Amino acid sequence: MKVLNHSLTLFAAVALGGSLALAQDAITTNRLVIHAEQGKHIISRNIYGHFSEHLGRCIYEGIWVGEDSAIPNTRGIRTDVVAALKKIKVPVLRWPGGCFADEYHWKDGIGLREKRPAMINTHWGGVTENNHFGTHEFFELCDQLGCEPYICGNVGSGTVQEMMEWVEYMTSDAQSPMANLRRQNGRERPWKLKYFGVGNENWGCGGNMTPDYYADQYSRYNTFVKNYSGNQIYRIACGPNGGNYRWTEVLMEKAAKRMNALALHFYCGTGRKSRSATQFEEADWFWQLKRALQMDELVTKHSEIMDRSDPQKHVELAVDEWGAWHAVEPGTKPGFLYQQNSLRDALVAGLTLNIFNRHCDRVKMANIAQTINVLQAMILTDKEKMLVTPTYHVFEMCTVHHDATLLPSDLVCEDYALGDDRIPGLSVSASRGAGGVIHVTLCNLNPGAPAELTCDLQGAKPRSVSGRVLTAEIMQAHNTFDKPEAVKPAGFAACKITAGGFTARLPAKSVVLLELK
Ligand code: AHR
Repeated sequence: MKVLNHSLTLFAAVALGGSLALAQDAITTNRLVIHAEQGKHIISRNIYGHFSEHLGRCIYEGIWVGEDSAIPNTRGIRTDVVAALKKIKVPVLRWPGGCFADEYHWKDGIGLREKRPAMINTHWGGVTENNHFGTHEFFELCDQLGCEPYICGNVGSGTVQEMMEWVEYMTSDAQSPMANLRRQNGRERPWKLKYFGVGNENWGCGGNMTPDYYADQYSRYNTFVKNYSGNQIYRIACGPNGGNYRWTEVLMEKAAKRMNALALHFYCGTGRKSRSATQFEEADWFWQLKRALQMDELVTKHSEIMDRSDPQKHVELAVDEWGAWHAVEPGTKPGFLYQQNSLRDALVAGLTLNIFNRHCDRVKMANIAQTINVLQAMILTDKEKMLVTPTYHVFEMCTVHHDATLLPSDLVCEDYALGDDRIPGLSVSASRGAGGVIHVTLCNLNPGAPAELTCDLQGAKPRSVSGRVLTAEIMQAHNTFDKPEAVKPAGFAACKITAGGFTARLPAKSVVLLELK
């Protein structure tokens, strides 16, 4: 059994003696305390952010089909995809990469499309990139989605001048060379751009730099990322790869005062032989979720390092790439990173978003990789066909947490054990939204046992509880173009109000969202 203290200042996972080995049809019993009177921190909606790179079929086909396409589009952007993404209220979208960002030259992506020079996308499949989706098309997409743009600049292979001019092109209202070039290209007014990344993975594909070298480069490039015409840039520095704590130490020491956020990247593969997104066994399920849970340790430890010099949390953490990374679907191009998305991915999403919610005092943005047709996608497309994935449904259910107040919680839950290994059986986060409605996301990681949960809700007396659940008969369940609704949320009635709070019976392998009012 595990005690998980989800108060923001204190996170502890204390084993209370041996855990029960669960029979397949056993029911686990679990206790939760929600401190509704202690809400202090806001869960930024940007934790539910997204990332779209020029990679495989994410931008081309997934988003951009061009104005002359037979696929319905608005100014070249797929209408069906925009409609689906609007339902999950995409708050912020990161672009153009990823590794692609550090070889992207923005001037190739402006002006008449047919005159734009092509390039080779060396990172992702060596395909020809025609630059038809560039700065203007990206802002058009953000406009259609109603989301904040987040642009990642090129430090790895670009110049300081190139980065400076891009920001000027996008945001200056002056009679300046770049602002005038933008006007010539049909956009009179500057765009509002808040989020700007100074490089991507500069410890790897963005230049293989040491933290000291990058910290200096960051400071240099950032100097020329100017605030034009009243636009205020929120500066995001390339952060660590997973548990590279030295990277965080150096960046905080050398450049903290010049940044608004540090970007952490962490992907969870299974770390096992079978990396298939849909052909897996319980051992793969277990290992995937165990790896996804590492996000808690990473965020906690990086935050601790940041706290040493920045206890006021002026520098925020942006986990601007995260998600499950499986083997590509058989028959698809390896460099395109196209993978299916099963109920297991929904659990990865649910528990990771719970972690971000619980760390919302420091984590102010997160961007799942990637929006469409790449890695842990929200949407898969096949020419004119489109489906939404189990992960999409988790994002849709969780829109209620956007900008809500985190309610600290303590969870005492039984372990989910497999062989000699064990992880907590449940994951939770709770928030109070406008109007006082409380929402609780609960994930039951155990694929073999439902979980009985008793919740002591302190500081609130709701009169009703209702819910939605995402689950399926089998762990590998996923949506296909033939059966696009195999996995989708359903109403959830196995919950009731009690004198002290509520009880719920969470199905095995499920994500449940409760609403208390
Ligand atoms: O999301 C795919 C790739 O993963 C990104 O381009 C890169 O930043 C990361 O390594």
